Amino acid sequence: MSFTIAIDGPAGAGKSTIAKRASKELSFIYVDTGAMYRAIALGLLRKSVDIEDRAALAGALEEISVEIQYVDGEQRVYLNGEDVSPLIRTERVSDMTSRSSAKPQVRAKLTHLQRELAARENVLMDGRDIGTMILPDADLKIYLTASVETRAERRYLELTGKGEQCDREEIAEDIRERDYRDMHRETAPLRQAEDAILIDSSDMTIEEVVAEIIRLAKERMG
Ligand code: DC
Repeated sequence: MSFTIAIDGPAGAGKSTIAKRASKELSFIYVDTGAMYRAIALGLLRKSVDIEDRAALAGALEEISVEIQYVDGEQRVYLNGEDVSPLIRTERVSDMTSRSSAKPQVRAKLTHLQRELAARENVLMDGRDIGTMILPDADLKIYLTASVETRAERRYLELTGKGEQCDREEIAEDIRERDYRDMHRETAPLRQAEDAILIDSSDMTIEEVVAEIIRLAKERMG
């Protein structure tokens, strides 16, 4: 039997950085489900699909395949055989992902793939609906969040660090909008599972959060 850890939470709470480090220390496979939704969104953008047109969306999804592979321990995501990992972090893709991931047809396409991965190996999977929908029986569920202000500040520092011009209040507004969309969509909205442990990282360092997750995982693994 594999041991499964589900980490859900809003954008910018530090999920992927924390999940990457914790999975390394635990020697678990890290599954970044957001990357899979992003790859589908890129495929839809490339095909210029109107995602509000159900038939067009269904047709396009039939022609889109997503796979993940691990290269030197890093997850790579493939869209119809092409490694698109470096192409999925743009604002354009983020925006399309937030809209297309609300569509039931898009979610159905990835549910099976995600469950299959967790059945085979010890995984730490992060996303929005892992503890509530994908792995309701996960051995450990974490809901990782942080205040909008903290998340906006982190994003601001990340962008200005890359030399990009940006505005704190605009970033905060963007985060509020995406939170709203993720939490209020009809299919698999973002919410804390009843048996998930809440970690608010607003006043914690990455190391502190990682240490807490490892402590909880070891406790459960016995
Ligand atoms: O975690 P991320 O920023 O890469 O997620 C990108 C988008 O995908 C975000 O709008 C939420 C959505 N998503 C989702 O609906 N379900 C998941 N399991 C993971 C991500």
